[in-house]
Amino acid sequence: MDDLQCQPPATMHADLSRVLYDEPAILRRLGELAAQISRDYADAGELTVVAVLNGSFMFLADLLRRVPLPLRVESLSVSSYAGDRSTGVVTFKQTVLPDIAGRHVLVLDDILDSGHTLHAVRARLLEQGPASVRLCVLLRKRRVRAQAVEADYAGFDIADEFVVGYGLDYLERYRNLPCIGVLRADVIARGLTGAGQVAGSGHAS
Ligand code: IMP
Ligand code: MG
Repeated sequence: MDDLQCQPPATMHADLSRVLYDEPAILRRLGELAAQISRDYADAGELTVVAVLNGSFMFLADLLRRVPLPLRVESLSVSSYAGDRSTGVVTFKQTVLPDIAGRHVLVLDDILDSGHTLHAVRARLLEQGPASVRLCVLLRKRRVRAQAVEADYAGFDIADEFVVGYGLDYLERYRNLPCIGVLRADVIARGLTGAGQVAGSGHAS
């Protein structure tokens, strides 16, 4: 128990075709991102961070403990994905959204992929008249987006592959992997047709 770096659980780790970023690499990059955010908001007064759950929970915790600014944390929960692809329909799971009128808002999400989720989240937040809204993602996929939305802050640019770990899931699994890795194609194929799985079921972001 004296090892400071978490060991990836062997069974989950075996489902990865390769690891993209291990825990030290993620935390190093979050330090840089946190420094950039801290500089940009140094004179902005109290910041409101809106985390898109569940995918951003590890990112949220590790990033914000490196941001020494006065801030408050809100969250919202949306779903748009079915298995390994976006349905394009973004559902907000709560009727009352955080009160952000007149506030500087930084949205945190795990990954910018098709753009449907962050496009819809930004539009809903802007309806409430915030002072500003910026988007911060851990991962940004290199691909053509279905919606015109770009991240103001991004941890890593990655290829258009399905990744899991460090908060990101496949059918709600792998969120607790401490690294980010590419999920094996045969695991994806098995998951969508496997016993006990509801093929195409939506799940939390
Ligand atoms: P978008 O709406 O297509 O931009 O995707 C946003 C959401 O889809 C993210 O917040 C994730 O929950 C999920 N997602 C997109 N790509 C991946 C991936 O490679 N692995 C796991 N989840 C993903
Ligand atoms: Mg997800």
